[in-house]
Amino acid sequence: MTFEWDADEYEVLAAPHVGWGAGLLGGALGRWPLVGDEAAMDAGCGTGRVTELLLERLARGTVLAVDQSAAMVEAARARFDGDGRVRVERRDLLELDVEEQFDLILSTATFHWIPDHDRLFRRLARALKPGGRLVAQCGGAGNVARVEAAAEAVMRDSRWRARFAGWESPWNFAGPGQTEERLEAAGFEKVEVWLHEEPTPFGSVDELARYLGTVVLGGHLAALPAAEKEPFVAAVAGRLAAGGQPVVDYVRLNILARRPAA
Ligand SMILES: C[S@@+](CC[C@H](N)C(=O)[O-])C[C@H]1O[C@@H](n2cnc3c(N)ncnc32)[C@H](O)[C@@H]1O
Repeated sequence: MTFEWDADEYEVLAAPHVGWGAGLLGGALGRWPLVGDEAAMDAGCGTGRVTELLLERLARGTVLAVDQSAAMVEAARARFDGDGRVRVERRDLLELDVEEQFDLILSTATFHWIPDHDRLFRRLARALKPGGRLVAQCGGAGNVARVEAAAEAVMRDSRWRARFAGWESPWNFAGPGQTEERLEAAGFEKVEVWLHEEPTPFGSVDELARYLGTVVLGGHLAALPAAEKEPFVAAVAGRLAAGGQPVVDYVRLNILARRPAA
């Protein structure tokens, strides 16, 4: 399922993602330092906030930032306007077919929006130079399970049930074992995959609702007419916050892997 993102809202609200991106890059590149002249790809760049962190380490390098969303691509192009190191292209990673090859592919908070990880990993492997690295993080097994349960309960409500008839979840929260197998089948080696929890609290139900509506529930909201979106998000946020501080129960799947050297 594809839906369009609100890039302006995402830019304001997706602070947790920038922190996770910084942590991922710090950990991975601490082990595999960059020289600074590498060719990198950011696979699912969004508005480019994590791409920016990568660029801080690539003084003489280049980044191809790709994203499927027209709104995200427009925002990333505006962000990097005038920076000759960056090219931003609108592409579906499942159809990725680039002429050049990369030393590094970085991806944050994107793979769980993509249904076919076997195909995705084959496409990414082909886009890496021999010896090139994949450094990625996305939602993994158990990610936002409480949000999912709250949304499912609201979807069953008679007000919305018919809207969600035949609806399929846009999320693909894979586990470490199956992800390792898929990466190896796609030709990667030195594969390391692990989960970690990132429970993310919000100050109020309204704050939580604004966040969920922009960052988490886009695939659900695509099934609803405009007038129904806000009440739906409010109902999910209300359920989630009932009886305590609103928290989004994030679980991140971390991926490090290498294309074998020739
Ligand atoms: C939550 S955002 C993450 C953006 C950024 N990496 C970050 O960490 O803030 C997920 C992004 O994945 C993109 N995306 C989802 N499926 C994609 C696909 N098949 N090909 C390319 N981009 C995709 C979306 O358009 C969206 O910009």
